[in-house]
Amino acid sequence: MAEHVCPWWIGYLLLSPLRKLVHSPQRILSPHIEPGSIALDVGCAMGYFSLDMARMVGPEGKVVCVDLQEKMIEVLVRRATKAGVIDRIEHRVCGKNGLGIDDLGGKVDFALAFALVHEVPDAEDFFRQIHAVLRPGGTCLVAEPKGHVSEDRFKETLAAAKNVGLEPGETPKIARSRAALIHK
Ligand SMILES: C[S@@+](CC[C@H](N)C(=O)[O-])C[C@H]1O[C@@H](n2cnc3c(N)ncnc32)[C@H](O)[C@@H]1O
Repeated sequence: MAEHVCPWWIGYLLLSPLRKLVHSPQRILSPHIEPGSIALDVGCAMGYFSLDMARMVGPEGKVVCVDLQEKMIEVLVRRATKAGVIDRIEHRVCGKNGLGIDDLGGKVDFALAFALVHEVPDAEDFFRQIHAVLRPGGTCLVAEPKGHVSEDRFKETLAAAKNVGLEPGETPKIARSRAALIHK
């Protein structure tokens, strides 16, 4: 069970330019996203990763950005508009127990869950929804903050993914994070 949802104002801190030094969106995401891809940024907050994802999918692709908090999405929309990539971003405010992505069944090439899974109420239910929207061969990158998530808890997270038919694979090195790629 999740204890805590990141307060909306933390969204601004997550946008700090200094973060690029440790969490370069280009380095972390470019191996997984191609022009024309359909990508999903779950728990996108104010879109630290989403804008770069939108550039990577290009004009033929789409990034679906989902967050529980309306304030996060409002700022994301403003930033994406200013950056000129709002045409490739679809934004959704979801409920705590459902991501509201059923319509994407089998269509998503790549899903990002960065610093999110420890906040969702039920990891297995979360991964069941991710499994449903990934296309066969699609990938989800799960990264959790080392400061909040122990090695054992991260193992439980990956076990939850495996229980619903996703296959944990490579473990990319991401600063201050425990990370894994999971595949459908
Ligand atoms: C720690 S922030 C990480 C934001 C972003 N992924 C990043 O790395 O910059 C976690 C985000 O997940 C959102 N969140 C928490 N629980 C959620 C849920 N059940 N469904 C969707 N979003 C959720 C929060 O509102 C918050 O914006």
